Amino acid sequence: MEAIKLSANENCYGCSPLALDAIRQKYKEVYLYPEVNPVALKAKLADKCGVTLKNIVVGAGSVRIIDGLIQTFVGPGEEVLTFEKSFIAYSQLAGFHKRKCNYAPLSDLRCSPENLLPFINDNTRLIFIANPNNPTGTIISHAELESFLSKVPENIVVTIDEAYGEYVTDSFYPYSIELQKKYHNLVILRSFSKIYGLAGLRIGYAVMEEYKASLMTEGQIPFSLNYLSSDAAIASLDDTDFIKESALANAEQRDYLVRELKNLGYNTIPSQANFIYLWFDNDNEKIKMYDMLLQNGINICDMKIFKQEKSLRITIGKKEINQKIISLLTK
Ligand SMILES: Cc1ncc(COP(=O)(O)O)c(C=O)c1O
Repeated sequence: MEAIKLSANENCYGCSPLALDAIRQKYKEVYLYPEVNPVALKAKLADKCGVTLKNIVVGAGSVRIIDGLIQTFVGPGEEVLTFEKSFIAYSQLAGFHKRKCNYAPLSDLRCSPENLLPFINDNTRLIFIANPNNPTGTIISHAELESFLSKVPENIVVTIDEAYGEYVTDSFYPYSIELQKKYHNLVILRSFSKIYGLAGLRIGYAVMEEYKASLMTEGQIPFSLNYLSSDAAIASLDDTDFIKESALANAEQRDYLVRELKNLGYNTIPSQANFIYLWFDNDNEKIKMYDMLLQNGINICDMKIFKQEKSLRITIGKKEINQKIISLLTK
């Protein structure tokens, strides 16, 4: 029996049928190179975000854009800053580029941006804030982000990674595009891998000031997008019903899982993403839960692989599977 994968925060409802149609229409043409500059997708994204085409950077997954940001804006001897317990790619990719990555602590599992301020030094060039944060699922608010931006020197690029932004239901979530128009050092990063369900096609985008976007684009590897991804992304953007339904179902299941896990005595916090974070007093308890679920065909994420001990992350699945998890844990 192949285990159900609840370890990588993919959309358990798949992707939009419109995206599948777009792929079907083009898959026989994969012997062709993709376009170097996906203008139609950029135009669609520019329209959605209320910016110009020149503000958009598209990449083979948002991790490729994270890589490009480090490559473009962090020179030798310069540094990256992020939070402890956040998305591992920030530090991993800084390491690949031989750039130092510094970490600010979380406060009660929240990425309070104020905590970053004492860690900013003369060499800091790029800050990453995942919002919602992976793995804790917490968010920072519009007011918190704006207050932080008003205190950060303009020569530091602040990237707010909204890979899970479409799952957020909290009304205090930032209108980050509005802030980007005011703070030109702000970069907004988004992904088609999560709610849009296109993780396997590798496509993401970022919104930033024109000058930065042109530097990023100059440094991109030619033909790094694949032949199918931009059409699938365009079709996904058109299917607003699919996105709404995925977000709604996720929010319902998120409430259910957090409530039931808390009732069973687990340490967890409300999440705004499509996953839930659990932490344990000792590693044995964690391993017990992980192994028991795996033996029952459910593969969740042991955060140890990201060097975070005593914690697990569960991607929120469909109703039946969440009920199965709770029933297994109750037993
Ligand atoms: C916070 C965050 N940003 C970015 C990504 C990567 O997304 P992509 O598939 O677009 O590279 C992930 C994937 O898990 C993530 O958790």
